[in-house]
Amino acid sequence: MSEDKLKSLLQQVKYPGFSKDVVTFGLIQNVKVSDGSVELGVKFSSEKEEIRQQILADIEKVLRAGGYDKINIEIIQTSAKPAPGTEEKSAPPSIPGVKNTIAVASGKGGVGKSTVAANLAAALRKQGHTVGILDLDVFGPSLPITMGIHEVPKVLEGNKLQPVRQYDMALMSLGFLLTDSSPVIWRGAMVSKMVSQFLFDVEWGELDYLILDLPPGTGDVQLTLVQQVALTGAVIVTTPQDLALKDVERGANMFEKVNTPVLGIIENMSYHVCTNCGHVSKIFSTGGGDKESLRLQVPLLAKIPLNEEIMKAGENGEPLVIHLPESEAAQMFRDVADKLHELVN
Ligand SMILES: Nc1ncnc2c1ncn2[C@@H]1O[C@H](COP(=O)(O)OP(=O)(O)OP(=O)(O)O)[C@@H](O)[C@H]1O
Ligand SMILES: [Mg+2]
Repeated sequence: MSEDKLKSLLQQVKYPGFSKDVVTFGLIQNVKVSDGSVELGVKFSSEKEEIRQQILADIEKVLRAGGYDKINIEIIQTSAKPAPGTEEKSAPPSIPGVKNTIAVASGKGGVGKSTVAANLAAALRKQGHTVGILDLDVFGPSLPITMGIHEVPKVLEGNKLQPVRQYDMALMSLGFLLTDSSPVIWRGAMVSKMVSQFLFDVEWGELDYLILDLPPGTGDVQLTLVQQVALTGAVIVTTPQDLALKDVERGANMFEKVNTPVLGIIENMSYHVCTNCGHVSKIFSTGGGDKESLRLQVPLLAKIPLNEEIMKAGENGEPLVIHLPESEAAQMFRDVADKLHELVN
């Protein structure tokens, strides 16, 4: 009887950001209850401190309101990572040989994910790390363009694909396998299966970093995708407009759902520097990245200017970090790579 009462009280405590409660998520354990006193354990894995504190505070609140005045809560730390929503399944696997898998994402299209992914990867490579890029944008693969290569990957023994190599990095993209005339509908049917094949049936070799260039958006496709592999963290790209920020917020929430830390935000096309006179003009309303960084309590890794060289380099198949390594913008990408390396090691 008293256990039933306790259970219904605890079912009022929702996991922050979800409609399901902490009992359903399996967080409550070792319950001992008698009149007015309760002892219980709360199982935590890798959630953020503020989420833990909120859960603990909410539990205490409902128990007090329910008439318990002696409350003893023990924290049970588990090493597993049960992502809310996938708690029945085991944690997703990591890619053999790959130390860090980092997703570059954005809620909105065209904000510069692929450009950031390519330059970030190139910057990490310049710092001596072994690097791969996986272009997961099946409807608009851009790696063949940003890296200037259109090679068809070799199929190795055991049906593994060998990544294409360019600028001393390992690359894989649907763009290497499709011709422009391949029907889009065929791609749609392939998405889920293919993503898993690109992650696990590609002979990535030993990599310090695998950068995932995600398709725009934070819908089911992206969620399925980020659930298939253990990610080290995510980088969110945004432009300074408020509209883009709403989408960023959704992106950040999506990674929270799979217990993946958002390592930082990159505000891209932040301002424009006139190539003739050096005048800095802020074309979009400013402060977007700052605001979001504050809200999510994650660092704003960089404010990358709208820069013709970045665009030209990308379109000519040579990321700026490789094409003009000494330029100011290339230096910014290198700083981001430094910061990320510090954050994940
Ligand atoms: N900082 C920048 N300065 C100038 N041009 C940029 C900058 N960043 C990106 N671009 C250009 O903007 C366009 C869109 O960039 P990109 O393809 O990287 O965006 P994306 O977010 O990957 O787009 P999609 O959502 O379609 O995948 C490209 O032409 C790219 O060269
Ligand atoms: Mg892209």
